[in-house]
Amino acid sequence: MKLLVCGGAGFIGSNFARVRTRENGDDVVVLDKLTYAGRRENLADVPHEFVHGAIEDPDAVREAIAGADAVVNFAAETHVDRSIAEPDAFVRTHSQGTYVLLEAAREAGVRYLQVSTDEVYGSIEEGSFTEQSPLQPSSPYSATKAGADLLVASYFHTFGLETVICRGSNNYGPYQYPEKLIPLMVLNALHGDKLPVYGDGQQVRNWLYVEDFARGIGHALEHGVPGEVYNVGGPDEEANLDVVRRIVSLTGNDESLIEYVTDRPGHDRRYSLGSEKVRALGWSAQVRFEEGLERTVAWYRDNREWWAPIRSGDYRAYYERQYGRSLG
Ligand code: NAD
Ligand code: DAU
Repeated sequence: MKLLVCGGAGFIGSNFARVRTRENGDDVVVLDKLTYAGRRENLADVPHEFVHGAIEDPDAVREAIAGADAVVNFAAETHVDRSIAEPDAFVRTHSQGTYVLLEAAREAGVRYLQVSTDEVYGSIEEGSFTEQSPLQPSSPYSATKAGADLLVASYFHTFGLETVICRGSNNYGPYQYPEKLIPLMVLNALHGDKLPVYGDGQQVRNWLYVEDFARGIGHALEHGVPGEVYNVGGPDEEANLDVVRRIVSLTGNDESLIEYVTDRPGHDRRYSLGSEKVRALGWSAQVRFEEGLERTVAWYRDNREWWAPIRSGDYRAYYERQYGRSLG
């Protein structure tokens, strides 16, 4: 297949492009705006064509979609803390951008897969979300992602566009921008910087190794039923504090680095996804959290040239604004 991968220069999109070109022999065109989170370096070893542009720009989308058999949309603003500080780009990209892409897919008559998140369901104290669970998003990030999902569903019902939605749980692995919990804690630990845990650190996340998510999306793209939603959850749940303790131990550090800081406003307590529906398509997660975290810590330790320019650039100013302290 020839795939248009929107947001393919980001963390999950670049891993997806790598998996699809290597394992499935797909041709890939990446359309990406290259925000702070999008990096051409993420695709250095992936054969692809590249179009630099925003999904909300119809001209860029028209150029990128030519000859594609399907559109896979990863393009998004993805950090909850940034959506609390500055929601503007979240509304534009998720609403207008998704709309422009859907129109282009409709005109081209190609299948459209929307990459979504478990955060659209909100927080769950016990049990797991199914695809039938109500949408109760908490943050500007998750609310605008939920809005995008509803728009996608409307293009199936109204225009008969072949749409599929994949909702993933928390991803981790190589090439993740270090504003997110795991890479932030790994890089801080490697530098001997404090490890900022929000609130009591007992919030639970459902961890999914990024290549498992990439393969789950591939399954839904090839075998998913048009109009359907597929949850893709990780095999393990863990409280943030326990994740940070594992990282302290894997990096040979001391728990005195851990610092409890002010909680995130509206912080969801727990995410948990039931993935029976995508499993029925033949997918299952292959990487348990313990193994995936070891691989991830090793990747960051071995790939200084990837993160050094980030950690010495704009990220420093972001870190100071968000955490009220400088990186060492
Ligand atoms: P990321 O922030 O690493 O990458 C996002 C990419 O989208 C970047 O390359 C960025 O330049 C690009 N982009 C942003 N706005 C754009 C626009 N208007 N036009 C074109 N490109 C644009 O994000 P990620 O973690 O790889 O997430 C990818 C997708 O997966 C998102 O839709 C996100 O909601 C979803 N998701 C993420 C996770 C997770 O744990 N990271 C879990 C479930 C679902
Ligand atoms: O669940 C899927 C979602 O996972 C995706 O849709 C989002 O794009 C992705 O960013 C992620 O959202 P989270 O908010 O769960 O991820 P984050 O890495 O920001 O935070 C994970 C948990 O760790 C959360 O409970 C907040 C906490 N945390 C995070 C940071 C950055 C801390 O305690 N300290 C921190 O410094």
